[in-house]
Amino acid sequence: MIDPAAPEAQAARLAEHADHFSACFGGEAAPRIFFSPGRVNLFGGHLDYNGGPVMPTAIDRGTFFAVRPRKDRLIRLASTQESEGLEVDLEALPKAPLGRWVDYPLGVLLDLLDGASQEERSRCSSGFEILFGGDLPIGAGLSSSASMCVGMALVLDRVWELGLDSAERVRSALRAERNFVGVQCGIMDPFAVGFARPDHLLWLDCKDETYEHLPLDMSRLAILVADTGVKRKLAAGEFNLRVEQCASAFAKLAPHCPSAKVLRDVSAEELERHGEHLDPLERRRARHVIDEVERTFLARERLLAGDLETMAAQMFLAHDSLRELYEVSCAELDCLVDAAREAPGALGSRLTGAGFGGCTVALVEREAIEDVQAVLFERFERNFGRRPTIQVFGGDDGPREVPL
Ligand code: GLA
Repeated sequence: MIDPAAPEAQAARLAEHADHFSACFGGEAAPRIFFSPGRVNLFGGHLDYNGGPVMPTAIDRGTFFAVRPRKDRLIRLASTQESEGLEVDLEALPKAPLGRWVDYPLGVLLDLLDGASQEERSRCSSGFEILFGGDLPIGAGLSSSASMCVGMALVLDRVWELGLDSAERVRSALRAERNFVGVQCGIMDPFAVGFARPDHLLWLDCKDETYEHLPLDMSRLAILVADTGVKRKLAAGEFNLRVEQCASAFAKLAPHCPSAKVLRDVSAEELERHGEHLDPLERRRARHVIDEVERTFLARERLLAGDLETMAAQMFLAHDSLRELYEVSCAELDCLVDAAREAPGALGSRLTGAGFGGCTVALVEREAIEDVQAVLFERFERNFGRRPTIQVFGGDDGPREVPL
């Protein structure tokens, strides 16, 4: 089934979320409702932590927040998607992660309190209750965590009237994930969520954190995301391993490439010339990074030239490299990308997010959505005896309050 990417469908889901809030917390006053999108990365796989360029965009599915201030200092967090919530006095917030979903919003809360000035502190003294929910698959590589953290920063900014700008909220979300939750994530996800703009890809250069918005013709193209349903159990460990392997490859190359500050700066010729200093596995990882940087610049150039075919075709090449050189794919992801190669109207496809399961993303001509979907279903079902979940996403804006 194609999910209607209609704004009305989401407005209905948000209204329903407000009802859930009342059922969960009771009381008379209606909550304020906020939405924070997920993201899908189209170009630049595993480049952010190597200082390379990436081109993600936000999607019109994400995290829902229903929030109501309290007169006392109690913080109550609950979720429609998880069982155990948290109820704690502002004075007695846990200082170490609890090992469950509440760590994400708690991390942002602690970070903002930590950075607040004396004057701001006085405003951060009232409690609140929040019901979290959403329509983004969790753990599928669509960045439910960045969606939650950047959205939480906005909610707190508004509830406590802190007057933060987007960059400060993105920074807080990033610190929460890295310093409190303890995931050494790159900068792509919170930036993609926090600076999103509809009908645009975000061009983010992770070396100097500069970004711009590049228009993508969403009246012609749709973003189709196919979820393999394979849970990314090894993802955290394997992800950190890739980060280490790239760091080690760069440490060995750096003395021979004096002007390089990050692995992204090493050229293909330099890798060729000095590759003997790396072990074969590090060579493969570095090769992926360096080629992927080139592909991402080419995709940008082709996008700006209006040549969407050549731009999207870089996705297939990226997938090959992620599978063979970076080794973060799996049979289910390969099956969906291979099916897209044969589906007329699918201009490009690759795994998105960290890999090891989760989703593929495809850029598809709007009129071919149904046909592409049929090919993907058929091929996947033949190989794995079940259907993947396929959704068509529109682009979206960054986190925001939604009037009901
Ligand atoms: C995960 C990380 C991102 C990025 C991607 C790979 O999604 O959270 O920072 O490294 O993997 O491109």
